[in-house]
Amino acid sequence: MSEVSNPRLLYKSVPRGYPIPGENLIYDTSRTIDLENVPLNGGFLTKTLVVSPQPWLRERLRDPERISYSTPMRLGHTFVGFGLVKVIRSEDPDYPVGQYVVGMIPWEAYTVQPWDGKQISATGKLPAFTVDVDAMSMVKVAKHPTIPWSLFMGALGGSGQTAYMGLKEHADMKAGETIFVSTAAGSVGMMVVQLAKLAGLKVIATAGTDEKVNYVKNELGADVVFNYNTTSTSDVLQEHGPIDIYWDNVGGPTLEAAIENCNLHARIVACGYMSEYNDEDRYGVKTLSWIFKRRIHIHGIVTQDFRAKWTKQFFEEVPPLISSGKIKVKEEIVHGLENAATSWVDMLMGKNIGKSVVIVAEDD
Ligand SMILES: NC(=O)c1ccc[n+]([C@@H]2O[C@H](COP(=O)([O-])OP(=O)(O)OC[C@H]3O[C@@H](n4cnc5c(N)ncnc54)[C@H](OP(=O)(O)O)[C@@H]3O)[C@@H](O)[C@H]2O)c1
Repeated sequence: MSEVSNPRLLYKSVPRGYPIPGENLIYDTSRTIDLENVPLNGGFLTKTLVVSPQPWLRERLRDPERISYSTPMRLGHTFVGFGLVKVIRSEDPDYPVGQYVVGMIPWEAYTVQPWDGKQISATGKLPAFTVDVDAMSMVKVAKHPTIPWSLFMGALGGSGQTAYMGLKEHADMKAGETIFVSTAAGSVGMMVVQLAKLAGLKVIATAGTDEKVNYVKNELGADVVFNYNTTSTSDVLQEHGPIDIYWDNVGGPTLEAAIENCNLHARIVACGYMSEYNDEDRYGVKTLSWIFKRRIHIHGIVTQDFRAKWTKQFFEEVPPLISSGKIKVKEEIVHGLENAATSWVDMLMGKNIGKSVVIVAEDD
């Protein structure tokens, strides 16, 4: 008898402000699945091992009419995000039993692949800047002898790749220069801080609590670290700047202060706007004229665009830096799909230090 429960995270309603677990996102235990007999129709059956709470998924929970850089999630369906799965039955010779795969997956215990969202996506015409998220390819991965799967959600996954590829492509880092990094205690931020230190830069970093400030200073080795909730960003940058590079994870008033404290020919890597994802009131940055006066280059990035160019070099360089301890990785791990919504919202609210990861099932 192989009929088992197939719990999932259900996207129930569009959130206003921070999503509310139990209201916008429901942990649904009503479904079962027959693991031995469920029809595969030439596909394969996967067991979900790990999922990755990421900020950009917040934008997907929107009114489907509103255009953005990612396609909206489908209301009334299973929440879809990045994760790692293992093939447990297969009719597809490309995906044999035991194969590990990463990609955009429904957050549920078991999935018949390709899952239904993949089959119906990309039916409408999308603007050129919009990524059809559900249609993104699944990538086969091999187990690393020493590095745990969870790291493939963060330091060796989207966050690490974003930091590494964004810096390579647009920061033009030179030893002795000064970089300013926001959300420095988070998943992308911790990688940017350490890669910049390894490249010989002076790092000014900010985070939202004193505990995070201590972590970034004492464990990541940033030179100047402050809590932006209790200290003026402008004052710190005036004292310790000017800055040659700003790694922007937040937008808003922090970006305003950074622009005002840029050096001639500074580079800004616009990676994300955490200050806006849960707040429909947009902050009006008042220092924009410094962009031309100081000949500042602002580069908006989406990591997907860089993967073909940088993935090989990333996997040659970064895993050894982690294995040797030259790059330290912190994770905020929770166990159980039932805790995935809370883990995600906690991260959006800034309760995480390092990369938030949800272990859904052990790899047995
Ligand atoms: N462009 C891309 O391809 C790409 C890829 C990956 C990630 N990103 C972006 O990178 C950024 C960081 O992502 P992550 O995965 O590493 O998340 P993270 O930093 O681990 O977690 C998000 C952090 O954002 C901060 N935050 C929350 N609300 C904020 C607010 N109102 N104002 C300022 N900061 C706020 C919190 O840190 P504090 O307590 O320090 O405020 C929180 O810990 C996000 O903007 C994300 O969208 C972009």
